[in-house]
Amino acid sequence: MCGIIGFCGSLPASEVLLAGLKQLEYRGYDSAGIAVLSENGIRMEKAIGNVSRLEEKLGTESFSGNCGIGHTRWATHGGVSEENAHPHHSGRVTLIHNGIIENYKEIWEKYGVGRTLVSQTDSEIAAVLFDSLYEEGKPEEAIWKAVSILEGSYAFCILFEDIPDTIYCIRKVSPLVAARVKEGSFVASDVTALIAYTQEYFVLPEDTILVLKKEEMYLENQGNQVKPELLHVNWDTTAAQKNGYPHYMIKEIHEQPEALHNTITPRMKDGIPDFEVDKIPDDIFKNIHQVKIVACGTAMHAGLVGKVLMEKRVRIPVTVEIASEFRYQNPIIDNRTLVIVISQSGETIDTLASLRLAKSEGAYTLAIVNVKGSTIARESDYVFYTHAGPEIAVASTKAYTVQLAAMVLLAVRMAYVRGIREIEKIKQDYEALKQASEAVHASLALEEEIKELTYALTEKEDLFFIGRGIDYALSCEGSIKLKEISYIHSEAYAAGELKHGTISLITEGVPVIAIATQKEVYAKMISNIREVKARGALVILITQKDTPVESSLYDYHLTVPELPDEFTPIPAAVILQLIAYYTSVHKGLNVDQPRNLAKSVTVE
Ligand code: G6P
Repeated sequence: MCGIIGFCGSLPASEVLLAGLKQLEYRGYDSAGIAVLSENGIRMEKAIGNVSRLEEKLGTESFSGNCGIGHTRWATHGGVSEENAHPHHSGRVTLIHNGIIENYKEIWEKYGVGRTLVSQTDSEIAAVLFDSLYEEGKPEEAIWKAVSILEGSYAFCILFEDIPDTIYCIRKVSPLVAARVKEGSFVASDVTALIAYTQEYFVLPEDTILVLKKEEMYLENQGNQVKPELLHVNWDTTAAQKNGYPHYMIKEIHEQPEALHNTITPRMKDGIPDFEVDKIPDDIFKNIHQVKIVACGTAMHAGLVGKVLMEKRVRIPVTVEIASEFRYQNPIIDNRTLVIVISQSGETIDTLASLRLAKSEGAYTLAIVNVKGSTIARESDYVFYTHAGPEIAVASTKAYTVQLAAMVLLAVRMAYVRGIREIEKIKQDYEALKQASEAVHASLALEEEIKELTYALTEKEDLFFIGRGIDYALSCEGSIKLKEISYIHSEAYAAGELKHGTISLITEGVPVIAIATQKEVYAKMISNIREVKARGALVILITQKDTPVESSLYDYHLTVPELPDEFTPIPAAVILQLIAYYTSVHKGLNVDQPRNLAKSVTVE
């Protein structure tokens, strides 16, 4: 949440900052601002709205200076206003902040005497604190003192008025990465903002000050220099562009076959899933009596599918937990529990806190993460990296289907090492997973048809997804995708549960997206579809291709290729993503940046 960038070097800072902020916009887009240091002091500009609004405001006006900081905001503390946009300024200090300062009241009472606040933010109070503690020429001392007082989470980039061309950074929980390149020194919330300059970067360790200057950059901890641990990203600038597509979301939907291929293929050995490349030992699958999957949002929905797969194959209890609940429910975990956390960004604060809790209780921890070097990846005992590449659209698509693939691979490997599934069946599972990835092409081929049929949804106020078993798990994801970008109220229901309340909401023309790909419960699903059809629902039915279906049951019928039942969610998810995408497009909404949301949720 909130995107941060800082630059000191040979290029005009305002241009570098604006370009970086555009790459980081998915982290928040309520307002944006930059501050640039020059021989005339610090110059600041802010605007409500996304980065283009800030760019418009700056116009062609030259904003001289080669060192500066920029921020794109997702409001937490204080409403969306220009005053609350970052950077914040107090005395000799100008800063940008991502995170939440919990003890802002106490800080203000102690250090704010005689000062006036311009904004309603905790971040401005942090600026007050840094300025109060600052003695000329001793920025590091002020920072160490301040962080011993600050409670909460933070990533700060700080300019001191009397220290030319230098940015000081420090973080706790909230992410910051940095890179030194020939053009200068960079810091940012994540590597997408740096990728135009380099693929080599490092994560700023906590409790360490990063100093950026034009000619150098260094890390220091209480006077000692710290050597950064360099990381490499295996994608380049084109991966983070729209490449001719109108939105990131549709581009990312189309990238799924490749993302799946990249995630599955390295984990294949003689037809059996193998995690040698990940260095995940079999012990964590053998020595356990329960699995807990913990995540938020779409990642949690991938866990719901994973639970069905794992319980069927491994016959071990698997629970799926919402991270923000799990961490406060005194969960039953022991040293024979495998806690699988799933997170695209590897930064979600509740998922991270749950991981830390699980570790402290002695559980084995395994993270399924897309972003290399992210906090969750670094702190987990073992990491399964998905290889979706950068996902920019706030609505997660390719990250979800690769998480599904990861769940299949884990479930199958677990069944294999526990010796409860014959080798032949394990190999069949692996083949089915490959077929499911191939079947994504068939779903993408339905794009035009889906584009047309979604005109029927744009005026609707409510919509329901129904399914049974793994189709119900998928319905949860279909529903969140649709509501987050189309703003149509949507709910997912286990089809058999409809009669216990929800069916009272089904009236003439209410859309019901019925996912009926599970042959095992197909007859039951058909009965449930009849029930909604009889009450006038507009039914969009999704089945496997060869399933015989009565035409009176649906208004629109979409199919996925024939597959073993549990493998249909991968191609079916793509159909649901396209339904959500085109509904939002037809409504003329901001598909990639839906209101009030952010991609990476680093606050509780
Ligand atoms: C936000 C995003 C969702 C995502 C969730 C969890 O709500 O908008 O798309 O599923 O966070 O994020 P993570 O990075 O942990 O997967």
